[in-house]
Amino acid sequence: MLNFRPFQILRSLNSKRARFGVEMRSVFWDYSSNQLKMIDQRHLPARFEMVAFQDYRQVAEAIHEMVVRGAPAIGAAAAFGMALAALASRASERSTFLQDLHQAAEVLKAARPTAVNLAWAVNRILRVVQDSPAPVHELRALTLEEAQRIADEDVEVNRRMAEYGATLIEDGDTIIHHCNTGALATVDWGTALGVIRMAHEQGKRIHVLVDETRPRLQGARLTAWELEQYGIPYEIITDNAAGFFLRRGEVQKVLFGADRVTANGDVANKIGTYMLALAARDNNVPAYAVVPTSTIDLSLRRGEEIPIEMRSPEEVLGLQFKGEPIAPQGAKARNPAFDVTPARLISAIVTENGIVYPPFGENLPRMVRR
Ligand code: MRU
Repeated sequence: MLNFRPFQILRSLNSKRARFGVEMRSVFWDYSSNQLKMIDQRHLPARFEMVAFQDYRQVAEAIHEMVVRGAPAIGAAAAFGMALAALASRASERSTFLQDLHQAAEVLKAARPTAVNLAWAVNRILRVVQDSPAPVHELRALTLEEAQRIADEDVEVNRRMAEYGATLIEDGDTIIHHCNTGALATVDWGTALGVIRMAHEQGKRIHVLVDETRPRLQGARLTAWELEQYGIPYEIITDNAAGFFLRRGEVQKVLFGADRVTANGDVANKIGTYMLALAARDNNVPAYAVVPTSTIDLSLRRGEEIPIEMRSPEEVLGLQFKGEPIAPQGAKARNPAFDVTPARLISAIVTENGIVYPPFGENLPRMVRR
């Protein structure tokens, strides 16, 4: 998946004009051209580019290459990828049509392994199509309708999480936030960053310490870019400075999202979350995970069962310092994209159905099924 070329670069805007979150979603279906359109997150904050897709294989590649990233956003992108596969299928028989969709489902689900939202969204499309007695030409439309529903629900779910989560935030709080969990990581609004945004809109004075989030710098590049748009005060910190600020008593809350939460409350999230949660606990600072129920995988009992994506060493070694490579030639690297924070370090999990407190093993399944 190295030669990724978006189907079409649509436009280049500067970030101020884009006013992201007000005028557009990170992932959406363009009904005038029957294309999937997404913000190309690889170029932010330097360039704001939209890319368009007509082929589900390109969507899978875009997910792998992190044109689109963030668990809910890749779920929605994959759902629309299924709609592209449905529209492209020439099948007139139901069984052949389903075969085509299953093939697309396998390709899309293989794009990234950790975020359960990807498989969740693809399986939801498959289920709706399989359960429908409609003829093939109607199933095509049904696929797109369901993908649109997934995208619309994501925005609604994020707003509800934000309202619940904002009750945990107090006026004057300084919050450490990890990775990017905002409107870019979802269809719109965001998970953990959505909570921060809601609290800000409610008039609470908040300061955000933005973990830069090595090695892909989703915090420094994307979260900082979003906070600029929303007018929320922030400072970028190196990931390894989080303990310093926690120990000095300068931080009241730690907030992050998740790519998968298991039935016992273990949280897989962007690499570095575990160390952050450890430092938060050592300093009696609450660490909150903000996750839609689509991120909770009750089929897994504990975090050890979550597949962790290992990404290319190039993402670590390719970084530069003052225009020069950071490591000697021939250096090797390891690059896990996520880690698992054990439930005992999580103070509460905010969902669209409400806030879940320990013991998660008992309370989480109840909240998901609500
Ligand atoms: O590798 P990424 O950038 O897709 O990782 C994203 C995260 O880890 C987010 O914290 C997570 O998806 C939850 S936020 C919506």
